[in-house]
Amino acid sequence: MAIPHEQGLDNTHKLLLEGFDYIPKRRWKFQSDIFRSRLLGQKVVCMGGEEAAEVFYNEEKFKRKGAAPNRIKESLFGKGGVQGLDGAVHKHRKELFMSLMTPERLSELRETTRKQWQIAVDNWQKKRKMSLFHESEVLMFRIACEWADVPLFASELNQRACDMAAMIDAFGAVGPRHWKGRMARNRSEKWTRNLIQQVRSGKRHPREGTPLYEIAWHRDLNGKLLDLQTAAVELLNILRPITAIGRYVTFGALAMHDFPETKAKLRTGDDEDSRMFVQEVRRYYPFGPFLGARVRYNFKWGGHHFKKGTLVLLDVYGTNHDPNLWIDPEVFRPERFKDWKESPFNFIPQGGGDHDMGHRCAGEWVTIEVMKVSLEFLTKQIDYKMSQQNLNYSMVRIPTLPKSRFMIREVTSK
Ligand code: HEM
Repeated sequence: MAIPHEQGLDNTHKLLLEGFDYIPKRRWKFQSDIFRSRLLGQKVVCMGGEEAAEVFYNEEKFKRKGAAPNRIKESLFGKGGVQGLDGAVHKHRKELFMSLMTPERLSELRETTRKQWQIAVDNWQKKRKMSLFHESEVLMFRIACEWADVPLFASELNQRACDMAAMIDAFGAVGPRHWKGRMARNRSEKWTRNLIQQVRSGKRHPREGTPLYEIAWHRDLNGKLLDLQTAAVELLNILRPITAIGRYVTFGALAMHDFPETKAKLRTGDDEDSRMFVQEVRRYYPFGPFLGARVRYNFKWGGHHFKKGTLVLLDVYGTNHDPNLWIDPEVFRPERFKDWKESPFNFIPQGGGDHDMGHRCAGEWVTIEVMKVSLEFLTKQIDYKMSQQNLNYSMVRIPTLPKSRFMIREVTSK
């Protein structure tokens, strides 16, 4: 069976014009969960939905080597990190990340998050007005450093936090936003290389079990320490994505603003209400539009031929809004998660499949826990006011955020 085909010599300009909606719109137009296109100068297969996600995460069929464009590595990921590895080498590196996610370490993370929120709120009360988005990113970065046992001087806090934010903000960008991300990565890698070196030379003694310790002393399958550059990249693979949770905190605040009945429920609700709210924020709001992998060898799936080496894009945003999987996908409704039958492939804001065996985000529990504590603070511990502002977010900008950066004023503790 032929895969529906989007005409055109190269459709990159349409992708840039349509952003998050590019793949979902064509799945709808072709009435097919799979179609072919030409993007970034190459033949590409785009697909979405639960079955597509399942095949995308089949490691025998897909590999990550050569999937991420250089511009993403130069800004968001870095080179040599876990994202681009395959097979046994990937599994071994992934174990390092998953070993950091123990119940004890997550409980410590919740404590750190509470403590850092309290410090931040004391500080916010002195400010006349501020961007919740910016302040959340700085706050998340502080949480990340404390949890990772990474030392942070007050004088470097803002620059380093802005560097994390710039790497995140660069991932779908061309032009100045991309270059800012690249410069931020160069500065950050220099910093984390130095930290790893300090640990290895005995000048610094992070606690065992913390990311700085475990990454510095991690040995590869040949029993060798990671080279300095790779260790630096992996340490940033902890600090940067925790900073990125600031975007979800902002979207959570936006949801409370746009759907005030959900805020009331959060304020009086229990842990289950918080969990459902957090899941709905992760489902509803756009973060990453799609993921890429390359076909490992020729195979047939659903009657379609996949040719070795082809780049395949999995529609992350569209799968989380797929009408075949979600009732009223465009409605923000946390209760949908009450009796939701989750499979590893039907809810994929941070990737799908298995955390240990595949590429699914290592920080999914960290994200959920940090968001739960953060939203509890926003609803139960503080009051704030908002002025008239443009809270719309673009579906073309990747990653996106409310245009006004969510300005708040008169923050008070309850
Ligand atoms: C804003 C919240 C986050 C979002 C939206 C997010 C999203 C993602 C996505 C889409 C992937 C790729 C999955 C794939 O390739 O199949 C990923 C991978 C990854 N994430 Fe996250 N993530 C977040 C937070 C975190 C946190 C807090 C951490 C660490 C503490 C983290 C660490 C990682 C790592 C190490 C990988 C690579 C996994 C692998 O290749 O095996 N992420 N994330």
